[in-house]
Amino acid sequence: MSASSGASPSGSPAKRSKPHAQQAAPSPKAPPSSLSTPWARHSFISTENVSVEACEVLFAKADELRDKIENRKQVLKNAEGKILALCFLEPSTRTMCSFSAAMQRMGGGVLNITPSDSSVAKGETLQDTIKCLSCYADAIVLRHPVKGSTKLAAEAVDIPLISAGDGVGEHPTQALLDLYTILREQPSPLPETLHVTFLGDAKNGRTVHSLARLLTTYLSKRVHISYVCPVQSLRMPRELFDELSRLGLSQSEHDSLDADVVQSTDVLYVTRVQKERFESADDYLKAKGTFVVNPALMTRLKPTCTVMHPLPRVDEIDVQVDSDPRAAYFRQMKNGLYVRMALLGLVLDIV
Ligand code: CP
Repeated sequence: MSASSGASPSGSPAKRSKPHAQQAAPSPKAPPSSLSTPWARHSFISTENVSVEACEVLFAKADELRDKIENRKQVLKNAEGKILALCFLEPSTRTMCSFSAAMQRMGGGVLNITPSDSSVAKGETLQDTIKCLSCYADAIVLRHPVKGSTKLAAEAVDIPLISAGDGVGEHPTQALLDLYTILREQPSPLPETLHVTFLGDAKNGRTVHSLARLLTTYLSKRVHISYVCPVQSLRMPRELFDELSRLGLSQSEHDSLDADVVQSTDVLYVTRVQKERFESADDYLKAKGTFVVNPALMTRLKPTCTVMHPLPRVDEIDVQVDSDPRAAYFRQMKNGLYVRMALLGLVLDIV
């Protein structure tokens, strides 16, 4: 979450939606309030500076909404009369459908914009498209192929804009549901130092960028991140690695899943090699298939290890792993519904 982008559950100075510009940003130390949390009416485009308190408010709300739906079988109407615009200018299954389901499960309406059947196909600028949506909706969810575009879009409108991914930049709502999943899946209390291993494409993996940032804030000195990138070209962007080091994150890079990494990993976060981000087909073919999580690897991981993947997967996790209780990626996907319900509810200030 970036203060300069207008998104700040950090409690730091941030752009608010203009109609609410007079309101003071709530202190991150303030007790959670159901009417005005640090998320209310803010855009959300990065996990930079998201406070621990903001996460806790959000995760408590996600638990509450899950309980209402799964246990109490309640039909929610919090979002009645509200409209969410979904503007996905890159393909998506989970993020788009979970935001849509989240809004509809709270009784709200949804507008869907896709590149092929909107005026984007006629060459309309992103700013104009977003301004248009802001006339019809109460909040916008935007996925765009260009890094930095969601920040520009958030600055162009007076309603909250939530990033659903900006090219190789960030995927901040995925990081929220990933952290929520880690906290639900890992034994409580967490180990003194949680060892999170990212396996795969750390260069293009926006979910890796956002989650590494969020873990740095949320766990501070109580986390170590290993990046295992079987090919040099997939390593974590140097500037982000250095930035996280300066923030105090303990991190290391590896060419392969060394025994000491495998045996000490608490969370194995696997990512796809992102074919769509490669300029050369040859480079993609060199990187593709260089790692796979299979039953043999599972026997070497801790009994308490949590195996995660933002999905979609291609061939980096063998389907035989799906039945292992440590394989959390489908639960992770479902958690996305409740975390995004909570996020929408808090941003729209309706839960
Ligand atoms: N995890 C994720 O972003 O999936 P989609 O691309 O299907 O939205």
